[in-house]
Amino acid sequence: QTQRRYIDGLHPEAELLKEGAEWLRKGELVAFPTETVYGLGANALEASACAKIFEAKGRPQDNPLIVHVCDRAMANKLVEVWSPEAELCVQHFWPGPLTLVLPKTALVPDVVTAGLPNVAIRMPSHPVALRLIEETGLPIAAPSANLSGKPSPTRGSHVWRDMKGKIPLILDAGACLVGLESTVLDVSGGVPTILRPGGISKEQLEAVLGEVRVDVPVENQAPKAPGMKYRHYAPQGEMILMIGPHERVVRRLGQEIHKGHARLKKVGVLCTLESAPLLHIQLPDLLFVLGSRDRPEEVASNLFEGLRLCDERGMDLILAEGVEEEGLGTAIMNRLQKAAGQRILYI
Ligand code: TXA
Ligand code: MG
Repeated sequence: QTQRRYIDGLHPEAELLKEGAEWLRKGELVAFPTETVYGLGANALEASACAKIFEAKGRPQDNPLIVHVCDRAMANKLVEVWSPEAELCVQHFWPGPLTLVLPKTALVPDVVTAGLPNVAIRMPSHPVALRLIEETGLPIAAPSANLSGKPSPTRGSHVWRDMKGKIPLILDAGACLVGLESTVLDVSGGVPTILRPGGISKEQLEAVLGEVRVDVPVENQAPKAPGMKYRHYAPQGEMILMIGPHERVVRRLGQEIHKGHARLKKVGVLCTLESAPLLHIQLPDLLFVLGSRDRPEEVASNLFEGLRLCDERGMDLILAEGVEEEGLGTAIMNRLQKAAGQRILYI
């Protein structure tokens, strides 16, 4: 029996926070909003509580969890040593969509880090997340609150769909602001390395840290963020991502809609605001506007909703328009490429 409680995203109701904190302290799971995506939370210090996360999500055991904290004192108990780069990141980007990978203390159970010597840690900026952790008085381990293999949930309704019947409580504050997961940055030593692109861009990090590397997972080689090897964000339908100059992409999208229809496919299109009127007249079975080409934040916040909608409406073929790979666009394209299973047309 799952309770779905609607909570004020800006001024969360005290009784609801209390209810959430009680479940968490009892070792149960609570789904809650963060500024990136919804998290599926458990007491990070209790191995048996964290084990329930893997069960509810159907998550592989070798994929470690991010631990969420509400202040620096809480973080200090989990981290053995803070590098100078980590300190800079805390100053500039916390609270916010940046996860830091640092050497863990003995307090962090192995199930949380999947046996790795480092822990991934983040201070979210969403008032519900922050206040819930504060009220609980414990660090909260939380992966995205989706079933493993589905797009991360960016709306309370997504969590409801994936988690109802599996957990006691969902705190629903509507849509998440960022809509993409946090950037995972290894600052445990050496040059800071992005293990997963996300809400804080490489450019933003470089402005503060200087040199920043990107660990691009290579085929047949274990990535440093274990989660990056799984086929995430995969819609049920076949998906093709199109990259190229705007007019050519739009023309090609139109052609692919017709080809799909000729093969008797239901064709869904994920496109920008600018392309929408031109594609509308090609009569796809679903046309989802991600946002303006000029506002990647808008595209980011709508992306997972669009992917989920295509599945719900039974699209056999999903055609997605790419965005420019800079700033937040890098993370958007990372998710689109994964969803497309690397089926990319350069036009
Ligand atoms: O925005 C977010 O990060 C959301 C919200 C809920 O905070 N959480 C999230 O968690 O996306 P999850 O579990 O879906 O993704 C965590 C990623 C995975 O790719 C995982 O492999 C990596 O972070 N990760 C976790 N702990 C790690 C560690 N100790 N070392 C390297 N990578 C780690
Ligand atoms: Mg996830």
